[in-house]
Amino acid sequence: MSWALIPLTEEQREIQRVAREFALEQIAPHSDQWDRDAYFERSVIDQMGELGFLGMMIPEALGGLGLDTCTYVVALEEIAAVDASVAVAMSVHNSLPTQMILRWGTDEQKERYLRPMAAGKWLGAFALSEPDAGSDAAALSAQAVRDGDCWVINGTKAWVTGGNVADVILVMARTDRPEDRRGPRGISTFIVTPDMPGFTVGKKEDKMGLRASPTVQLVFDNLRVPAANLLGAEGSGFVYAMQSLDNGRLGIAAQSLGIARAALEVSVTYAAERRQFGKPIKEFQAIQFKLADMATRITASRALLYSAAAAKDRGEPTTQFCSMSKLMASETAMWVTTQAIQVLGGYGYVRDYPVERLFRVAKGTEIYEGTAEIQRIVIARELYAAT
Ligand code: CAA
Repeated sequence: MSWALIPLTEEQREIQRVAREFALEQIAPHSDQWDRDAYFERSVIDQMGELGFLGMMIPEALGGLGLDTCTYVVALEEIAAVDASVAVAMSVHNSLPTQMILRWGTDEQKERYLRPMAAGKWLGAFALSEPDAGSDAAALSAQAVRDGDCWVINGTKAWVTGGNVADVILVMARTDRPEDRRGPRGISTFIVTPDMPGFTVGKKEDKMGLRASPTVQLVFDNLRVPAANLLGAEGSGFVYAMQSLDNGRLGIAAQSLGIARAALEVSVTYAAERRQFGKPIKEFQAIQFKLADMATRITASRALLYSAAAAKDRGEPTTQFCSMSKLMASETAMWVTTQAIQVLGGYGYVRDYPVERLFRVAKGTEIYEGTAEIQRIVIARELYAAT
């Protein structure tokens, strides 16, 4: 049930098939248990790396597949339809740290870090938020101070997806001096690895959903980062993070679509099998209307996502469209999974069917990589910027 108004190429259909079969064979049998146990299975990441799914948009010369954003979101939706926790690792890795090194890294940084990341040997993470700087990301306070041929970073990062299992973490920290604060222009990006002295994994969050995707705090106590690991220009880290989150938001839109589609598929099947008042419940208009609205919102969200991804691939400014895609797809996921539970009634409210898990993971998509409210702010700002 993966209809798209915008037709896929033959190559995209093939990658979609590979992603779907991999997810159904290697992930689906375990998803429920991993969710219950909040268990992260690294071997799945390794397998995705072997399939090229961790270097989808990295050029072939650096060991990636050299594909476009459109193909990436098609594959990501398939993984998310089976397990949104696995999809979030794929999304963060492909959209944020790898793209940042590709875009702003030196040749040496690309060889050293991006090549193994593109091959899926190393997993990437992105550390922007802090306990007191979430939506207001520019208020972050982790401080980096230059000391000889190192930067010394102190501070705590929060909500880091996969921060305890990642091999390479892109960390945003202040490089302006406390007496000369420069707001967003005082933030820089560093390539950090967990073996650097002063790196500690802090609290692991006990989340409502996406439980098989670990989310942690990272505590930096005089973390020593080689000066060569500054990414791009000093003071440009916030802009890099914002530009990268545009990519990330397309990934979360694809993830949301997968979640919504899975909930619709369960609902359609259930409504055909479940009999009440002497007939399958799909014959009641109350159910038909729900299924029709679910399918319509999913199809519209997918059309917006594919259009935004295509605009990005054409090199056009897409900040607004990325936020629109994330906003619409995440709210669609939340709405569709809510309806799915209603279609299944009591069976939707228990763990016998996957819609309960889908409902819990859908909520996360309205929050991370920018809440729905932040997406509306970004969209509204662009409206005024255009006038
Ligand atoms: N593209 C390019 N540049 C951008 C940009 C974009 N999308 N957004 C902002 N900028 C630039 C601005 O042009 C400005 O540049 P100049 O200094 O040259 O003028 C600079 O960045 C500062 O921008 P703003 O004045 O707009 O900054 P702001 O403080 O008002 O914040 C915001 C804007 C949109 C609210 C931003 O803070 C935001 O997106 N907040 C949400 C953060 C978020 O999504 N966090 C989730 C992180 S993901 C995570 O933590 C989990 C994980 O593991 C992945």
